[in-house]
Amino acid sequence: MAVRDLRVFPDPVLRQQCAEVDEIDETVLGLLDDLAQSMYAHKGVGLAAPQIGEAVRVITVDVDQREGEPKLIEMINPEIVEFSEEKSDYEEGCLSFPGEAEKVVRPARVTVRAMARDGKSVEVMAEGLLATALQHEIDHLDGVLLIDHISRLKRAMINKRMKKRARGMNS
Ligand code: NI
Repeated sequence: MAVRDLRVFPDPVLRQQCAEVDEIDETVLGLLDDLAQSMYAHKGVGLAAPQIGEAVRVITVDVDQREGEPKLIEMINPEIVEFSEEKSDYEEGCLSFPGEAEKVVRPARVTVRAMARDGKSVEVMAEGLLATALQHEIDHLDGVLLIDHISRLKRAMINKRMKKRARGMNS
C-alpha cells in the first residue's frame, strides 16, 4: 500500500477512457488500497484510478470521514443504473484541479451498481454529497472532468490557470 502522486490537469491520463476490470487480482486489490490511502492522505471525498495514473475502472469514495469514522466505499466497474429527474447542485472540487471549485448541477439521486473487492455485485442508492461524489468519480473513468460541466467562460479561466500552474512546476 502506498500513497501515490496525484495526476493533475492537463495530464492526458485524465482524458482516457478507462478499461473495465475483467478479473480481480492482486494488482486490482493493490490499486484499491493505493486509491483509498491516497484519497485519505490528500483529504479528498473520492478518487478515481486515472487520478493516480491508472486508466482502469476503479474508484473509492468516503463522504463521512470528516464527521468521524471512515466509511470507505470501493467500487470496481461502477455503473449508474438509475438517476432522478430532480437535480441538485454542489460546489465541487477535484484533487486533479488543486484550488479550483465550481458549482455543478447533477441528478440529485443515483443508483450505482458495481463489483466489490470480493467480486460480489453491490448496489448503492445515494443522495446528497454521496450522489455527487459517485457521479464525479464515475465521470473520471470516461475521461470526463469537472470543467466539462461548467460554462465555457469558466472552463477557459480554469484551463488557463491550470496550464500556467503546470508550466510553473516544470520550470
Ligand atoms: Ni475529481
